[in-house]
Amino acid sequence: MTDLAKKRIVLGVSGGIAAYKAAELARLMMKRGIEVQVVMTESATRFVSPLTFQALTGRPVFSDLWDNRLDNGMAHIDFTRDASAVVVAPASADFLAKLAHGNADDLLSTLCLARACPLMVAPAMNRQMWEHPATRRNVSQLKRDGVGIFGPGSGEQACGEEGMGRMLEPEELLFDIEGFFQPKRLSGRKVLVTAGPTFEVIDAVRGITNLSSGKMGYAVARAALEAGAEVTLISGPSCLKPPASAKLIKVTSAQEMLGAVQEAVSEMDIFIGVAAVADYYVLNPSEHKIKKDAHILTLELAPNPDILANVVNLPKPPFCVGFAAESESLFEFAEMKRHRKNLPLLAGNLVQDAINNDISELTLFDDEGAHPLPRGPKIQLARQLIAHMAKLYDLSTNPKNP
Ligand code: PMT
Repeated sequence: MTDLAKKRIVLGVSGGIAAYKAAELARLMMKRGIEVQVVMTESATRFVSPLTFQALTGRPVFSDLWDNRLDNGMAHIDFTRDASAVVVAPASADFLAKLAHGNADDLLSTLCLARACPLMVAPAMNRQMWEHPATRRNVSQLKRDGVGIFGPGSGEQACGEEGMGRMLEPEELLFDIEGFFQPKRLSGRKVLVTAGPTFEVIDAVRGITNLSSGKMGYAVARAALEAGAEVTLISGPSCLKPPASAKLIKVTSAQEMLGAVQEAVSEMDIFIGVAAVADYYVLNPSEHKIKKDAHILTLELAPNPDILANVVNLPKPPFCVGFAAESESLFEFAEMKRHRKNLPLLAGNLVQDAINNDISELTLFDDEGAHPLPRGPKIQLARQLIAHMAKLYDLSTNPKNP
């Protein structure tokens, strides 16, 4: 895992109303132990005073290419040579155009061109500007150049219009920046993740489901994306926002989830079953709302297919990872489940601790034994799971590698 503390980030601020959010981003970065050097464009200084950033970061802020506060007068070189990354937030439409074309006519654009470290941008602009073909072309070019593009989000804009173009919130940005630094252990790999609960219909308005929120599965999908994988996320009903670059397939029932998995799995390198699939479905669901009367109502339930077992038993299965939610004797039951399902790796958790929670505990079970992970946010657990899994996956594809 990559820690943000001790990283040195050049925070570039270009001209736009979202510049005020960059002040909060600078504060959050400082709180995480990042050394922050702010560089502003001239127009950004009209939205927020450099003094604000200087007070928040404890460092002088630069915006002029000809600033003589540095001995050698080479701020564009000095600032990026020992930087871990340059993050431009907000990145205006004009600034994106400059980056895409390699223009260098002020300190920030010049240091972006002269840098020897990763570049990430958080676009922020009016929705028409974001949708303009010129901006679309510039963003595509920047993606091809390996620039990390975070957002924009959608919602109410400063101009009063609604749509895409809002800069991501500072907490979200910090999250994305942390993700960008994760080692690319799954580069070039295709990963299929199931997440959330399933919903089995009883009648027109009722069904059988469970308390799974999708948090763990979405975190696993996100961690796989951060590790460089191409991710397909098959999700049961969930209110969560999926990771932006995952291919999302929404399903309702276990049968639908199985169908979606079967359609996608042939081209996958790795399958991770995080979903809490309902074990049973209702044999004869009613099309209409069942009327209440004084009699006992009996539902006939039939077992659902086991999706994970289905994948494991394919003639050429991908590398399979299972999850086990147990209410007691976690080590014993999880290890039994791993053997029964013939899995190289299984992640076990106590269901009452894990389900619908943001923070929980996870233990990884493999041929070497049990590996408890420290309690933490699900994205942290997911990153550790992906790191562990990537090692086992590499060994399985290239057993000679120690
Ligand atoms: O979504 P959250 O609120 O974040 O909660 C996360 C979680 C607790 C749901 C998650 O961490 C978890 O433990 N998921 C697996 C839950 C579960 O159903 O475990 P199981 O022991 O019933 O199933 C074992 C494995 O078989 C799982 O990988 C499951 O996806 C898979 N399975 C189970 C039944 C079935 N019919 N098909 C399956 O593929």
